[in-house]
Amino acid sequence: MLIQPKKRAKELRQLLNKYSYEYHGMDNPSISDAVYDSLFAELKQIESDHPEFISSDSPTQRVGNELSGGFKKINHSSRMLSLNDVFSRQDVEAWVKRTDKLLPSIKHEFFADIKMDGLACALVFQDGLLVQAITRGDSYIGEDVTENVRTIKNIPLKLELITPQKHSLRGLSLQREKMLYGKFLAGRTEIRGEIVILKKDFAELNKKRLAAGEPEFANPRNLAAGTIRQLDPRIVSQRPLHFRAYDLIRDDPDEISTNMFAYEALLALGITRNLQASIFSDLSGVMGFIDEWDKKRHELPFNTDGIVVKVNNRSQFAKLGVVGKQPRAAVAYKYAPEQATTIVRDIVISIGRTGAATPVAVFDPIVVAGTTVKHASLHNADEITRLDIRIGDTVIIFKAGDIIPQVQTVVMELRPAKAKVFDFKKALATQYPELEFNRPDGEVVYRVNDTTSDLLLKLALGHFASKGALDIDTLGEKNVIALVDAGLVKDLADIYTITKDQILQIDRFAEVSANKLVAAIADKRNPTIERFVYGLGIRHVGVQTAIDLVNNFESLDKLRDATIDELRLVDGVGEIVAESIIAWFADPDNEALLEKFKKLDVKPVYEKKSGKLTGQNFVVTGSIVGMNRDELADRIRMLGGIFQTAVARDTNYLVVGDNTGSSKIKKAKSYGIPIINESEFKKMIE
Ligand code: IVH
Repeated sequence: MLIQPKKRAKELRQLLNKYSYEYHGMDNPSISDAVYDSLFAELKQIESDHPEFISSDSPTQRVGNELSGGFKKINHSSRMLSLNDVFSRQDVEAWVKRTDKLLPSIKHEFFADIKMDGLACALVFQDGLLVQAITRGDSYIGEDVTENVRTIKNIPLKLELITPQKHSLRGLSLQREKMLYGKFLAGRTEIRGEIVILKKDFAELNKKRLAAGEPEFANPRNLAAGTIRQLDPRIVSQRPLHFRAYDLIRDDPDEISTNMFAYEALLALGITRNLQASIFSDLSGVMGFIDEWDKKRHELPFNTDGIVVKVNNRSQFAKLGVVGKQPRAAVAYKYAPEQATTIVRDIVISIGRTGAATPVAVFDPIVVAGTTVKHASLHNADEITRLDIRIGDTVIIFKAGDIIPQVQTVVMELRPAKAKVFDFKKALATQYPELEFNRPDGEVVYRVNDTTSDLLLKLALGHFASKGALDIDTLGEKNVIALVDAGLVKDLADIYTITKDQILQIDRFAEVSANKLVAAIADKRNPTIERFVYGLGIRHVGVQTAIDLVNNFESLDKLRDATIDELRLVDGVGEIVAESIIAWFADPDNEALLEKFKKLDVKPVYEKKSGKLTGQNFVVTGSIVGMNRDELADRIRMLGGIFQTAVARDTNYLVVGDNTGSSKIKKAKSYGIPIINESEFKKMIE
């Protein structure tokens, strides 16, 4: 389905403005930040491709504004800064290098902590008593939310040194603690941190709301932000807000030498903070922490979107200074978002090894959780109905860590009028006219009729072993049937595991024939990739297409990773073929099969052909005396050339045999492609 950029831009603008109002105006967004960012990026792309579509109401034209009324404004004792975001190891490395350069010959440690996704708040304690709580505001001036913050149960109204047993991490005597941290109970102590709602509290709250027939809250951060700006503290007290500190500030900065010391003091004062925070001497330590929590972040009790890394020593920190709103001495590493939006181009059905028909959504490639995703299994027909997913829909793709990407929901607001409903039964009939399917009562999966499912494997193995494919000697139809019927082969890769003794159990084999078969199979552990690709039996991928694909992608991995548009650039590959290739690789059974081949050390090889025709693309029309079409193609390929089926701009020669009226001639002429006759061609291939 064709997308009209002008119309799309308008729809994105309207939707993003609606989301923005939900977020800023009502503190209750109906979508996540990642989805907003993904749609925003799409709008920005359209506007950069077509600047004429930019309008003043576009969210891309808006400058940030965090104003709100209702609360007293208070000056911060020192600016409440934010952090520069970084997104990759290289970014962190560049930052480490910069700090190394700015702090030459001074030993400097790095301090890392998990970044909490909430809202920043500064707590002011005077002689140990909580006297003020201020939001970040514009970094200089914040809002007085003291009354609301007083309702947060894990914030002490009075600071006290808690006995060391209560925080066993420290093992110091109370006397020692008093000496180290006692001074923070007198004078002004400011504690900065993040107000969050813990995941379990949020889930419980929503459960209660659901039971009471009230709408659920969208996400913990917005609920926390909305709650803290409530004018009625009684409402606030009913919401499970939670505070986690990340900073301690005294009038005399020398009282706190390092960020780690501040963190230790926080614990001693009974303030909640992340226990994961640690110090590292170099980049590899920092990256180890980042990677560790990327994997384990779902186990944390609160939401995180990254890691904060700072220079540990506070006087070095101060010396590095501030650029804009951000200190040079710290960065926030942001984890790759686990959601992104894209448009469903088509739904194709793949028939797995077991005969199960699995629908696969094929979409414009997008990066989710750090990897490019171009398709996702829709599992079965019911799932398509449940999601109400149609071709042309904009969908939210979700991928967490190593988990397989999923279509989470459809963005209904962006559904085009022409979005096509997917008729599963009809699609099965068009895509697989030769097969019969049924859907057993109570099951969600359509399968190839039971009686034929073994047949599928036999057909697949017969094809795999056939002349045009791996050409496995003596593995003809009868032996294929015998191996499958004996249960020795459950998938194509199994043939590489069967032993002579197993084969000998089958009646039709004797010592010699069994030996021969085992040897013939072993002989084909390293077929050429084109034979292997053809042998996999991907629908619509014949010998020629397999060769063209391999000429373009050169490896199985690259072929697997190719997008629909990249595939379509290959000579002779149209939409149907491209989608069929995508569907084949998207099928988890096939993925497992390829893995199994690798494990069994079955590795197809790429043979780069080179010869006098290397780099030349040929199209032949009409017949050439003494050679059929296959021989002709083989000859061109053997000499390193590419045999194309249609004249394209990159065609180098059109060879005209006996068909001088061909439309290909007209096309070649219009492109200015040299046209040669049979004898000229024969000279070239001599
Ligand atoms: S340290 C100079 N540590 O993230 C600011 N900040 O994008 C030093 N945040 O403004 C901040 N968790 O509101 C620090 N463990 C953590 C944090 C954290 C969340 C917030 C904080 C900060 C923002 C930066």
